[in-house]
Amino acid sequence: MLEQIEAIKAEALKQLDGVNDAWDLESWRVNYLGKKSPLTRILRSLSTLSIEERKTVGAAANKVKSLLEDSAVQKGQALRDSQFKSEAQKESIDISLPGRPYPIGRLHPITQTIDEACDIFASMGFQVIEGPEVEWDYYNFEALNFPAEHPSRDSYSTFWIDAPAGKGGIKQLLRAHNTSITARTLEKMEPPIRAVEPGKCYRYEATDATHGWMLHQIDGIAVDRGITMADLKGTLYEFARRYFGEDRKVRFRVDYFPFVEPGVEIAIDCIVCNGSGCRLCGNSGWIELGGAGMTHPEVLRHGGIDPEVYTSFAFGLGIERPHMLRYGVDNIRLYYSNDLRFLRQF
Ligand code: FA5
Repeated sequence: MLEQIEAIKAEALKQLDGVNDAWDLESWRVNYLGKKSPLTRILRSLSTLSIEERKTVGAAANKVKSLLEDSAVQKGQALRDSQFKSEAQKESIDISLPGRPYPIGRLHPITQTIDEACDIFASMGFQVIEGPEVEWDYYNFEALNFPAEHPSRDSYSTFWIDAPAGKGGIKQLLRAHNTSITARTLEKMEPPIRAVEPGKCYRYEATDATHGWMLHQIDGIAVDRGITMADLKGTLYEFARRYFGEDRKVRFRVDYFPFVEPGVEIAIDCIVCNGSGCRLCGNSGWIELGGAGMTHPEVLRHGGIDPEVYTSFAFGLGIERPHMLRYGVDNIRLYYSNDLRFLRQF
């Protein structure tokens, strides 16, 4: 019987050598280690042997059984390794190469400026509100005291949407200024109101170093009892000092916007020449940041707010220009040319 066990071992190991895949390995296992295999039959017949034979035959059969089991495990591992390698070769992947690092992105300088401006105004009690870029003529013009066909609309020439007009024949456009969000805020909220409204707006105008057909603005509105021009000046002074530094001078000059009365233009002394005059400021010594003023009573009425009870100030600042001034960027087109050499500097 010992010879029979040796023969089973030799035959099983020979057959295992020729096994090439998992299916063959499973058949091999059934043939040599399964319930009906010769080895199992020998182990089952041990009880019929004498005690002496049982000891020697049992020990030999068990030794061969564990040898065959270990060999099957090793063969299984070898088959898996070679399958993995051949698949990797088929796909020409060098699995020993280190992974490629992903480039880390960053916020666009305009987004950074919006975030910083919002933080400054939020610290003064303003909440941040957004509005739609595709806007009704009503919020862009009418609610802001621009009568239909009035020439003051010309300076906000924008892109019209070729879509059916809404109720009352009202047309849609790409908003020309973020003051359209102010018109919505006045309609939606009850005083006291303090809100800033950042985002994109669009103008049908030729581009040059300081003008784009798409630009970003941050508008602001405050409505309460007893708000005065001093509150407006204090708020914008504080913004200019916090964004540009303590030493900046701020200038308010009378300007006209149909939605404020009185209206002003806000400018800071030129960062490059400190007010003595240079190319950036067109030799004036000052650079305009935006417009502002006391909200016109008609605009408050459009929003359902009684101008006899409440007063209000509003402002609208460009976003690109403050960033250009702070970092000496001399062409607005750089922000939108997707040149990473420029964008990575901020
Ligand atoms: C307005 O858009 C008014 N809505 C601002 C306002 C709000 C006044 C509330 C009063 C009360 P203006 O067209 O001047 O105003 O634009 C404001 C600022 O946006 C400008 O000072 C400038 O910084 C920026 N800006 C305007 N047009 C462009 C442009 N084409 N490219 C880049 N920045 C621009």
